[in-house]
Amino acid sequence: MAKASGFFTPSLRTKIRPSIGVSRSGFCLSEGIFKRVVCSSGIESAGTHVSSSQSRIPKLVNKGCKLVGCGSAVPSLSVSNDDLAKIVDTSDEWISVRTGIRNRRVISGKENLRNLAVEAAKKALKMANVEPDDLDLILLCTSTPEDIFGDAPKVLILLDAYLNGNLFMLWQSCKVQRELGCTKSQLAHDITAACSGFVLGLFSASCYIKGGGFRNVLVIGADVMSRFVDWTDRGTCILFGDAAGAVVLQACDAEEDGLLSFDLHSDGEGARHLGAPINDNENGSVLEFPPNRPSYACIQMNGKEVFRFAVRCVPQSIESALEKAGLTASNIDWLLLHQANQRIIDAVATRLEFPPEKVISNLANYGNTSAASIPLALDEAVRSGKVKPGHTITAAGFGAGLTWGSAVIRWG
Ligand code: ACO
Repeated sequence: MAKASGFFTPSLRTKIRPSIGVSRSGFCLSEGIFKRVVCSSGIESAGTHVSSSQSRIPKLVNKGCKLVGCGSAVPSLSVSNDDLAKIVDTSDEWISVRTGIRNRRVISGKENLRNLAVEAAKKALKMANVEPDDLDLILLCTSTPEDIFGDAPKVLILLDAYLNGNLFMLWQSCKVQRELGCTKSQLAHDITAACSGFVLGLFSASCYIKGGGFRNVLVIGADVMSRFVDWTDRGTCILFGDAAGAVVLQACDAEEDGLLSFDLHSDGEGARHLGAPINDNENGSVLEFPPNRPSYACIQMNGKEVFRFAVRCVPQSIESALEKAGLTASNIDWLLLHQANQRIIDAVATRLEFPPEKVISNLANYGNTSAASIPLALDEAVRSGKVKPGHTITAAGFGAGLTWGSAVIRWG
């Protein structure tokens, strides 16, 4: 099992003392806190003009980052449990009792991942009052063509050799970038971790801001799982829906820091329980040159095992993130889990002693929207006035990989 936990939490910052100085990557720790330091590249401040052919990234570090905007988008077509009962042997009662899901949205007509992502992003930018050209980075958390749930943990467990830079992934992010109206050559890339994608996106964004000097980062969680669902499999097709959610993170002073701690994990051994892998050559013959274009399996899931994994690992991860932040569940205003199954949400909340009124849940309306589920629920909670500036939230994602992770964040 590979583990990648931890972050520069307030409590940890005070413990880290000896490493003073500036690394090539722009990190500087002095007396245990981040200092704003200019590296030797010659770019002097965040406001310094650089042409689009130069890097737009000033080599500074920032002391904190905060969430300043959110947005979401869902397809127009709503598919109810009764609708599904017309195509597979199921019922509204079975689905709602076992999962809590009643409806889900599914793309139709000209809707696709990209325009959902752009719509969510535009709303988040508007709330944040950030112009597209002021973005330094777009992270699109979504799935990939190799295995739509991501191959990283499987590769990691074998050889720790993970090659990034998949052209298809870059293409997806760069199209979002163009449709948002960005005219400069900001960095944009995808993150692959299915239902944990958004938490990893938050972590990556905070690293880019705190360690890399980025100022405005857009994190989008978007998935159209309906394309990869076997609509004849009642065990999986009832669970998923399509959506996008987005947040804008902005550099700020240490006192305003809103990304308080993270706890992140993966377990490639568990990948056999959940995936949408590339199909090996089906007749078992040796691959010939040139290889055929591969196809992908639909989502394959051992629901019971995934359920067990979630209720075992998610509470541990949240407890660890809370400890790193120096907080307990009673200090937290909201519990916001990946929206997979109401029974998982309830079990985790009970284990952590979060009362139901502190638990955010909207999966009855949207089902499991993978990387979109946390930002979609956050956006609804913010816009409805439930989540207010200054509120603390414990968010946790879990799913294919297997991957899982928690974040303790402050809104606004
Ligand atoms: N309608 C009616 N009956 C059904 C349906 C259905 N839609 N699906 C399964 N059944 C039947 C089964 O065939 C089985 O029948 P049997 O007893 O005659 O064999 C019975 O119901 C029980 O099936 P189980 O699979 O044991 O049902 P379970 O209570 O485990 O619920 C579920 C299944 C909802 C999938 C649950 O296991 C679950 O939610 N697992 C977690 C999934 C999850 O969280 N995924 C998150 C990650 S997703 C990602 O990363 C992209």
